[in-house]
Amino acid sequence: MKTIEQIKKDFEIREPFVQDEENVLKCRQEFIQDNSYINGGAGLTKISDYAEWLQRVENDKNGSNRPKRTELLFIRKSDDRVVGFINIRHTLENGFDISGGHIGYSIRPSERNKGYGTILLSIAIDYCRKKLNMKKVLVTCDKSNIASKKVIINNNGKIENEVAEGENIIERYWIKN
Ligand SMILES: CC(C)(COP(=O)(O)OP(=O)(O)OC[C@H]1O[C@@H](n2cnc3c(N)ncnc32)[C@H](O)[C@@H]1OP(=O)(O)O)[C@@H](O)C(=O)NCCC(=O)NCCS
Repeated sequence: MKTIEQIKKDFEIREPFVQDEENVLKCRQEFIQDNSYINGGAGLTKISDYAEWLQRVENDKNGSNRPKRTELLFIRKSDDRVVGFINIRHTLENGFDISGGHIGYSIRPSERNKGYGTILLSIAIDYCRKKLNMKKVLVTCDKSNIASKKVIINNNGKIENEVAEGENIIERYWIKN
């Protein structure tokens, strides 16, 4: 059986390019049909125009309209399929230190429950450590989001506390490198 480190090699995370349009939009369609919000998708749930979305990703990267964010595709190398989305917030302004944290993510509905969410977060944390020189990351999830909670714990997340956000309870975890 493959270890997590071996499975991680089957995937890459990278910025979206112009040529990813069909791949990304098919993935978007799948989320929409499933009624599933694209967490970490740089607003892709609402933006249907690919060029507009790419521009938003670019603006976020440069911090031109809000604090810097890096938005990445999670891609399976064997078939070049977009399997998920990742959003890394470089800083935690505007309440993201309470809820939201450094990393947002989602796996497309047809690829869930195969261990990919755990792999995605592990690769995203490597990215934070190596490319952004972050020593620790805050990852939060709704208390009722069992899959996300397990993904965080699988990546050695240590709970700091729970906070109320409206009717929801948010769990706040730190992952130290
Ligand atoms: C959260 C999410 C990324 C998990 O992705 P995934 O690929 O299904 O995760 P994994 O396959 O690595 O599963 C992690 C664990 O959760 C469990 N799990 C998966 N789906 C589950 C579900 N619907 N209910 C309960 N447990 C679930 C798995 O069995 C696994 O358990 P284990 O660690 O004991 O083996 C995915 O469900 C998703 O994209 N959800 C919508 C967006 C979202 O909630 N993002 C996170 C915001 S904080």
